[in-house]
Amino acid sequence: MSSTTIRPRLRIAIIGVGQVGGAAAYGLILRSVTCDLLLVDNNIALRDSQVHDLTDVAYTTKSSTRIQGGNYHEAGQCDIIVITAGSRHTIGQSGLDAASRNVSIVRNVVDALCPVRPDAILLVVSNPVDLLTTLALERSRLPPEQVIGAGTFLDSARLRALMAGRIGIASNSIDVYVIGVHGESEVAAWSTATVGGIPIDQTISPEAMTERAELEEQCRQQGRAIVQAKGSTPFGMGSVVASICASIALDKRNVKAVSHWQPEYECCFSLPVVLGRKGIVRNVEVPLNEEEKAKIEESVGTLKKQLELVRRGL
Ligand SMILES: NC(=O)c1ccc[n+]([C@@H]2O[C@H](COP(=O)([O-])OP(=O)(O)OC[C@H]3O[C@@H](n4cnc5c(N)ncnc54)[C@H](O)[C@@H]3O)[C@@H](O)[C@H]2O)c1
Ligand SMILES: *[C@@H]1O[C@H](CO)[C@@H](O)[C@H](O)[C@H]1NC(C)=O
Repeated sequence: MSSTTIRPRLRIAIIGVGQVGGAAAYGLILRSVTCDLLLVDNNIALRDSQVHDLTDVAYTTKSSTRIQGGNYHEAGQCDIIVITAGSRHTIGQSGLDAASRNVSIVRNVVDALCPVRPDAILLVVSNPVDLLTTLALERSRLPPEQVIGAGTFLDSARLRALMAGRIGIASNSIDVYVIGVHGESEVAAWSTATVGGIPIDQTISPEAMTERAELEEQCRQQGRAIVQAKGSTPFGMGSVVASICASIALDKRNVKAVSHWQPEYECCFSLPVVLGRKGIVRNVEVPLNEEEKAKIEESVGTLKKQLELVRRGL
């Protein structure tokens, strides 16, 4: 029997190779998720420097990933297309004003990718991620199961890790999802949380959990603190991108909370799904309680108003 591992010949493109795009590439190379990695950025000097710097990673780790610089059209022909393009310079101070730059960047990027390979998977990382995933889905005309936003994947991982530290149980034995619209209004779905497969209310005494709200706040605060100190969360998000791409490339079928099209609400936000070679293989129903449902509906209402304004041209 041969011991050679069969690697699917898969091509991945990353559009926007700043902090997150660079770290995502690094993660993909170390994990040898892909044979060909295409990097695209409108800052050509940065793009080419990332190609050279990351090629050194491939050499020193004996990863077989080949890294090249490319354009939007070439990226549109890749199997997985990751969008991490954005601008740190915000025109306005808050809300939709602050988002307008990234909105026009992602719109232009998706238009430039077209015609996208009909079986390509689009992974949107740029913020505001749910708004941009919805726009990317509309403009790419890909089937909804092929357009994914990083959404609350990282928040879910962070909450599990914080909980693990608090209760002294490994984070991979804890199942709790942060869902909804990524950002200040995201929701920790405590009503469906389990430890070792058993509902959390039956396993962990409320005292041991102290305040759940406090844990949620700590989770958000940690994200804000990283961004404040270093401008971005490149390692965490880069690792999330590598993990999502590995699930797709290797048809792993793991359950993760990611942003995707919600037909009932006509926009994208995060709920757990099964990830595989074709993107979202199936949805996972989360039986939420009334309070959690209400919180999600409120934030979805805000998202839909923003979408409406963006569609009317801001
Ligand atoms: N969902 C999450 O949890 C999460 C976490 C971290 C970061 N993010 C988002 O990821 C995005 C990237 O963050 P970052 O820290 O890497 O930012 P960054 O500013 O370091 O990188 C953005 C890159 O995009 C490039 N770019 C701009 N316009 C472009 C265009 N039209 N075409 C191609 N490239 C273009 C820039 O040159 C830059 O290199 C941000 O929008 C950020 O908010 C999301
Ligand atoms: C737009 O993208 C940049 C990264 O280039 C990020 O720093 C910024 O927070 C994003 N804007 C919004 C409103 O999320």
